[in-house]
Amino acid sequence: MQATIQFKLNGKPTRLQVDGSRMLLWVLRTDLGLTGAKYGCGEGLCGACTVMVGKEAVRSCQIRVQDVAGKEVMTIEGLAKNGKLHPLQQAFMEHDALQCGYCTPGMILNAYGLLLKNPRPSSAEIIAGMDDNLCRCGAHQRIVQAIQSAVKGGAR
Ligand code: FES
Ligand code: FES
Repeated sequence: MQATIQFKLNGKPTRLQVDGSRMLLWVLRTDLGLTGAKYGCGEGLCGACTVMVGKEAVRSCQIRVQDVAGKEVMTIEGLAKNGKLHPLQQAFMEHDALQCGYCTPGMILNAYGLLLKNPRPSSAEIIAGMDDNLCRCGAHQRIVQAIQSAVKGGAR
């Protein structure tokens, strides 16, 4: 059913006429043109579609757009501020923590959510926190190194 749904998206108030039962991933990608969040499995299993809702990294293929009404959503497009990459983005670049890059937006936002909860995670905590985000290219080792280096630099 069509409804008016309002939320904050990458810091800007957003108002949509939309079927509230549609998944947030498709509203972001199709209606709002934000294609950073990727479709991987559509089943909540890969993390390619990860976005922030409030302080939580969530799988946007599993959350209905009506469930973000009144909340703050951040996609990878909203992470850099004033033309400056977030330290996690910078660290991913510096450590070549990607190959095809398909998993990268989800990896970075999942790491962002992890650091919000635990700003100084150990290696084991990083590995555990990133374990459910899949990378078909096998860049996991460099991804963990990138997150470790962002942590050392005090990223949040
Ligand atoms: S596309 Fe959402 S978890 Fe895989
Ligand atoms: S860099 Fe290709 S899926 Fe991770």
